Amino acid sequence: MEGLKKLEYRGYDSFGVATLGSGIEVAKNQGRISEYAGAAIKLHGKIGIGHTRWATHGVPNDTNAHPHLDCANKIAIVHNGIIENFAELRRDLISRGHIFRSDTDTEVVVHIIEENMAKSGDLLSAVQDTLPLLKGSYALLVIVCGETRLIAARSGSPLVIGIGDGENFAASDMTPVLEHTERAMFLEDGDVAVLTPEKVEIFQNQQPVSRPVELIDWSLEDVKKGGFPHYMLKEIYEQPQAFFNTVRAITHDTLPKIIQHPKSVTIVACGSSYHTGLIFKYLLEESLGIPSRVEFASEFKYFPPPVQGLVIGITQSGETADTLTALKQAKIHNCRTLAITNVLGSSVCRIADTTLFMRAGPEISVAATKSFIAQLAVLMQIVNAGSQGKYDNILSHAHQAIEDVLLMDLAKPVALCKNAKSIFYIGRGPFYPVSLEGALKMKEISYIHAEGYAAGELKHGPFALLSPETPVIAICMPGETYGVMVSNIKELKARGAPVIAIGSANDRELTEIVDIFVPLPEMKPFVQILTSLVVLQLIAYYTAVALGRDVDKPRNLAKSVTVE
Ligand code: F6R
Repeated sequence: MEGLKKLEYRGYDSFGVATLGSGIEVAKNQGRISEYAGAAIKLHGKIGIGHTRWATHGVPNDTNAHPHLDCANKIAIVHNGIIENFAELRRDLISRGHIFRSDTDTEVVVHIIEENMAKSGDLLSAVQDTLPLLKGSYALLVIVCGETRLIAARSGSPLVIGIGDGENFAASDMTPVLEHTERAMFLEDGDVAVLTPEKVEIFQNQQPVSRPVELIDWSLEDVKKGGFPHYMLKEIYEQPQAFFNTVRAITHDTLPKIIQHPKSVTIVACGSSYHTGLIFKYLLEESLGIPSRVEFASEFKYFPPPVQGLVIGITQSGETADTLTALKQAKIHNCRTLAITNVLGSSVCRIADTTLFMRAGPEISVAATKSFIAQLAVLMQIVNAGSQGKYDNILSHAHQAIEDVLLMDLAKPVALCKNAKSIFYIGRGPFYPVSLEGALKMKEISYIHAEGYAAGELKHGPFALLSPETPVIAICMPGETYGVMVSNIKELKARGAPVIAIGSANDRELTEIVDIFVPLPEMKPFVQILTSLVVLQLIAYYTAVALGRDVDKPRNLAKSVTVE
């Protein structure tokens, strides 16, 4: 249960555990582990499996929660991923007399294992014979009555084996395992592992294989709240360190060859990572003149543009199904591929030709914050390397500027936002994706409708929505677009919308025309992007707290979206 709590950020609509006691013992429940009001779960045994769910097939309820059992209640499984051909398999199994209890795709797997067990009498071969029948993605754990082995299998969903002392673990990531060991093996697609307390054996195509044991340098402290009321605030405060560590790790020497002078770049990513891609595009084109395009990974597979050259997949988790699929598609088009991720051993590392790791440490809160800043550290270092180290000094001190904005008093913007019906965010150039990200953070954790716009676009329709209940947050920095931004702000004011502006601390003009002015202390290339972002994260965070939202686990979401 303690381990599952650490994985709850991956899905939190229901949970369950099964142990090998006197028979298979199961407890499962709709809702979150942290809110579980029932008596402590008392199961017996020393071998067990557990799961937290993010519903795909079947509503979140006790029955659809994992683990799922076979007809005879002798085999239990938990599953992450999706079995795409489950409907057909389910029909066949029902026609052969199997009784289904849930609406999940997962349940077919345990019934097929049941049939194969009856044929071979051996758990390992029963699982190995089952896997070729499954289309889709899975990380599976299986236990069966009368056995001391736990079987783990993966294809397309992450699975890590933790190597302990007289105890072994399998989990979706290392966070629940760190308490017990820092030694890990990352399974490859197609691997089937057999765990006992004493040893771990791995098979690929029924043949024994070995996987390297890696030391994970995330500390136990990293996965605790450390006195902060929410992981999100802790992670926002960890951003200076995350930026600093990443800038130092990505040096001119460690940059892979494929990223040094590409002719063109295509970025594929989702959500916040897509926004870092957009910021990168602006920086890359402006500083280095390298033509760049940014595509939603979810569109790329089905509507691939005529790509060539380098394709970069940006994914904090390294497990986002859409981004993995897009990178595979890029390889089909003979493109070279680079992944940028935070998670060692994640699926994207196996797909891309080369991987660059950011150094954000584990991010638990569903909303991306420090991983966003660390992604920017990687991308800014790439631009810096291409500019012969022109930004070395700025990047090696940028973490201090981030630190300076953490303690800013944002009570006024928060008071305005928390009563808003809708909030617009506007910016130009790289501050346009900054505004997209600010709006995403706000809607995601506060549930207030928020939209980011390129500042010039608001007058082409959205102006119709302006009112005193729709504040606009304008990111208005000195430079070429300053004058036109000020005009845009005046247009907004003339239509009754309250304006919160984020700008340079020396800006007298803005202070006079806007309702609330948020002064940024330092105006340097790159740094303004980072600090304005942190201000927007904090405004979203404090607004969500003021509204009593579940900041770390917003409704309907999950941290790692492993389905297309
Ligand atoms: C928003 C957020 C998501 C992720 C998106 C991609 O706060 O966290 O939008 O950015 O799901 O995730 P990764 O980067 O893991 O591919």
